[in-house]
Amino acid sequence: MKKIQIGLIFGGRSGEHEVSVRSADSVRKALSADRYEVHDFFIAKDGRWHPEPLAPVPGANPGLDVVFPLLHGTYGEDGTVQGLLELADLPYVGAGVLASAISMDKAVTKRLCMASGLPVVEHIVVDQATVNDDNLAVPFGFPVFVKPANLGSSVGITKAHDAAAMREAVKLAARFDRKIVIERGIQGREFECSVLGGRPARAAAPCEILPSREFYDYEDKYLLGQARFELPARLSKEQTAEMQRLALACFEAVGCEGMARVDFLMEAATEEILINEINTIPGFTSISMFPKMWEYSGLSYPDLLDTLVELALVRAAERRQLSYSR
Ligand SMILES: Nc1ncnc2c1ncn2[C@@H]1O[C@H](COP(=O)(O)OP(=O)(O)O)[C@@H](O)[C@H]1O
Ligand SMILES: [Mg+2]
Repeated sequence: MKKIQIGLIFGGRSGEHEVSVRSADSVRKALSADRYEVHDFFIAKDGRWHPEPLAPVPGANPGLDVVFPLLHGTYGEDGTVQGLLELADLPYVGAGVLASAISMDKAVTKRLCMASGLPVVEHIVVDQATVNDDNLAVPFGFPVFVKPANLGSSVGITKAHDAAAMREAVKLAARFDRKIVIERGIQGREFECSVLGGRPARAAAPCEILPSREFYDYEDKYLLGQARFELPARLSKEQTAEMQRLALACFEAVGCEGMARVDFLMEAATEEILINEINTIPGFTSISMFPKMWEYSGLSYPDLLDTLVELALVRAAERRQLSYSR
């Protein structure tokens, strides 16, 4: 049987460059050598591709059957690389252009979730001009979380305990994005739930994150290695089912395909489950929770990869049936 020629795109210009490299290492190792021939496309921190970019010209398919973008954050998880792959007419794993861009934007994601009646954290969206507003006020209490709308890895995110700290936090966030989200700080627990596309899409058993710091910040995610994970999460049967339902509904609301990890906050006082965000290219390292959640739910890492490739090929085949002109 002819092997599937799979391209791995990894590295990238975002703050998550190193994680992406580790994700690609794990994926490369887990892809069955009998089924796949792997082609690396490494993007250096300066944005240069090695080897040279997949030419963004229709039909200029460099012999690849499918591409797995393993880039996290800006210029990779946000629809830009997906657009390049569309132009190159290459099937690829994961969300399409629109859902990738939406999921990268915390404000738009929340708006779409709300339009579908899904529970999200109370928040306001402000623009960069707010940096100079000494009277900035929010319609909820402190603490608040101030975030650049489009970023990841907790970069530019501050937990602010009063108005003065909030103004400073807005200044920091404004360095990373012109759109800023200010949310009510939820005192409680934090969870993640993995989703796989297909008909129907399915959700894995959720896990709980127990940050080692005041919140799950950049240090905790990538430097300290002291955050703990509990899989399966300690939740009642009903709570687990509800979280899975919300994960699938969020996946649907943003028009996601292939895979996603939906992150949740649960308020201690009310036990209300709130959607925090959706990640369309979750980590794939040997210690990443996305594959671990699937493993726990009965899908091994290699089988998970086969499923993702299969979903990518099915989508591409379906799209080839569509007309784009009269
Ligand atoms: N509204 C909130 N209430 C409580 N904690 C929050 C809130 N928003 C974010 N956090 C904490 O900050 C972390 C990073 O925020 P998140 O929205 O997930 O951004 P990122 O895309 O950078 O992961 C979360 O994992 C959580 O620990
Ligand atoms: Mg997050």
